[in-house]
Amino acid sequence: MKEKIEALVSQLEAEIKDTNSLDQIEAIRVKYLGKSGELTQMMPLIKTLPNEEKPTFGKWINDAKVAMESMITNAKNEVLAKELDFKLAKESIDVTLPGYQFKQASIHPLSLVIEDLEDYFIGQGFNVAEGPELEQDLYNFEMMNLAKGHPAREMHDSFYVTETELMRTHTSPVQARFMLQAAGNPIAIISPGKTYRRDPDDATHSHQFMQCEGLVVGENISFANLKAVLLGMARHLFGEAREIRLRPSYFPFTEPSVEVDVMFTKKDGSKRWIEVLGAGMVHPNVLKMGGYNPEVMNGFAFGIGVERIAILKYGIDDIRNFYTNDRRFLNQFKGE
Ligand code: PHE
Repeated sequence: MKEKIEALVSQLEAEIKDTNSLDQIEAIRVKYLGKSGELTQMMPLIKTLPNEEKPTFGKWINDAKVAMESMITNAKNEVLAKELDFKLAKESIDVTLPGYQFKQASIHPLSLVIEDLEDYFIGQGFNVAEGPELEQDLYNFEMMNLAKGHPAREMHDSFYVTETELMRTHTSPVQARFMLQAAGNPIAIISPGKTYRRDPDDATHSHQFMQCEGLVVGENISFANLKAVLLGMARHLFGEAREIRLRPSYFPFTEPSVEVDVMFTKKDGSKRWIEVLGAGMVHPNVLKMGGYNPEVMNGFAFGIGVERIAILKYGIDDIRNFYTNDRRFLNQFKGE
């Protein structure tokens, strides 16, 4: 009996040696240890033996079972290890392959202009303020002296989002917000950011564009101060020898108001004035609504188009170039 049991163990050992899949090993396990496996089938024989032989027989069977199970476990582990080696070999990394090429980006020309303006004005003692692009009618129009039904609202074809909220049509609402925040104290800020108008999109118009607002409030601020700041800005942006020209204009939030032209020299040497921005002395109504007494405090403001500066500075002929993310265009501003 003992020989027969040991023979089964050797048989299993021989069979399992050449296996190379978990399925094969499982089949062998079933063959010997399954419900009607060869070893399992020998177990009932115990009943037929005399009592004194039962423990010995039981031990043989049990030893055989333990030996078989451990062979099966080892064989399974070997197969799993082999599969892992195979997988690792297949997925190995070739470190000599060329890597992914990440193209180096460049700073957007509009950002270059804004950074330049910020640097310049911070150097002049200004702060940089920001306001929301989704703006309340209150700040965008009302507090800028454009009451409901004011005809000048027509100049700003607006994107209303609700009855009282719109995408801001200019950066001027930051003036109103900042005056309230400054609570009667003097102000010197610029505020660059995005603005929106219901303009058709073509080479010279865009429904979204950028402006940079300027606001100074204090005592005894004069029109001469405004002119000096505008001249300084024009020369900083476009070159030291620039001249500016102020033409009377109209904005509801400034009085008097001006359009500012800058002198450009064409390639053929001829000179021409190009309109660059709007400006003026802050309207007394705007000061009042912002919490200032116009008898004591006054100020000036200006609003300049960021695209316009970039177009003039870099000689760009189509405003859409700023928004279409064509890298051939953008790459030209590397190293500016
Ligand atoms: N907000 C005006 C515009 O968008 C520009 C401006 C700002 C004019 C400040 C005067 C003073 O056209």
